[in-house]
Amino acid sequence: MPRAAVVVALSALAGATPAASLAAPRHPSPMTSRASVSLGSALWSGCTGAAYAGPLGLACLVRPYDARYSATFAQSFDRASPENEFKMLWTQPRKGQFDFTTADAIAALAASKHRTVRGHALLYAAANPGWIDKPFFLTPWTRTSLLNTVRTHIYTEVGHFRTKFPGVVTEWDVVNEPFVQSGARDNNVYQRVIGDDWIEQAFRAANEADPNAMLYLNEFDADTPSARQRAVYALASDFVRRGVPIDGIGLEMHVGADGRYPTLAELKNVMAQYAAIGLRVSVTELDVLRPVAGDPVLIQRAAYNTVAQACQESTNCTGVTIWGVADQYSWRGAAQTATLFSGAFTKKRAYDLVRCRLNDPKPLTGAWTPKDCGPVEVTPPNATTQPPGPADGSSAGSDPPGPN
Ligand code: XIL
Repeated sequence: MPRAAVVVALSALAGATPAASLAAPRHPSPMTSRASVSLGSALWSGCTGAAYAGPLGLACLVRPYDARYSATFAQSFDRASPENEFKMLWTQPRKGQFDFTTADAIAALAASKHRTVRGHALLYAAANPGWIDKPFFLTPWTRTSLLNTVRTHIYTEVGHFRTKFPGVVTEWDVVNEPFVQSGARDNNVYQRVIGDDWIEQAFRAANEADPNAMLYLNEFDADTPSARQRAVYALASDFVRRGVPIDGIGLEMHVGADGRYPTLAELKNVMAQYAAIGLRVSVTELDVLRPVAGDPVLIQRAAYNTVAQACQESTNCTGVTIWGVADQYSWRGAAQTATLFSGAFTKKRAYDLVRCRLNDPKPLTGAWTPKDCGPVEVTPPNATTQPPGPADGSSAGSDPPGPN
């Protein structure tokens, strides 16, 4: 949905926030706006994953787009997430030296097609440049020096896009994957040096840098009941209670790595938890691995359908982003057939199902029946048909690999 429409829809509803006892949210809650949901895809700057050849993306600068790649993006998706180019490894490869060349290419492409961008991601330990993880041995980080560096990074990157591409980068993943599977904090340099409040400090800086942007915490494997999901919820509700500026939770949803596919009830329950504390949710990195048994086309289609239906039926779900335009360029590898377009950029039926479910605006008040988007043929394997996960209740999923 265009940004202006969101602002109009939300300001018309100011004061309608159900969670009246909580600290006032940064932006009025979307829970009664019930607009249709945007469908995004990850995007590379000047080439694609398969051709990508190094941390600075130099190969991308000299390779033109496959014309079908940008055409498919422009025809089929409402917004873009830079797959790598907004990460610190790309935007501040050396201390104090910012380089937005490849990031700007994404924003420029999106803007030229009148599309918006999710800024992914400001702080992501798996995409730290070397100088953050291993500072010169005579000058180790102190809390103050690393906090200043984090603030400068956030102000500079958010400020760059706010000034150069006004209205294009409408939301940010401020912090990406701060938890591990046990629900503990990831033991990264921010956690070790700054301490527990590094996430809060990052959100406060992002809010100062762009008070109009939607600020998200984005996490892997936090979409179904697990220790990590509980940790994300605990942090989010603490932020809401104390008035730390946060608008939503990003559910990555790299689905199928553990041979199971989330159920509709699981997903809707997680989304409803955040609705109850006035936060948005967005499915930020959806892809579906090929199942080891059964008909892959039917199972993957059904898994996509489930996620889209959960979003359709949850009033605080504001977007679904597919992690890749087409199978051929998916970070999962083409053989996983994990996206909504085949290697030949042919649309799969799963795309139509997802689009149908997301394009289902709801009335502002009163009864509403979800639009019928047709049957799906199979039920994907879920928790009850798979071996149980670890005893602590966390899911059996494994962390995705870091950058190449
Ligand atoms: C992935 C990219 O898709 C790959 O190209 C890169 O090599 C590694 O990162 N969680 C995230 C994303 O938040 O940024 C990751 O993207 C996938 C897992």
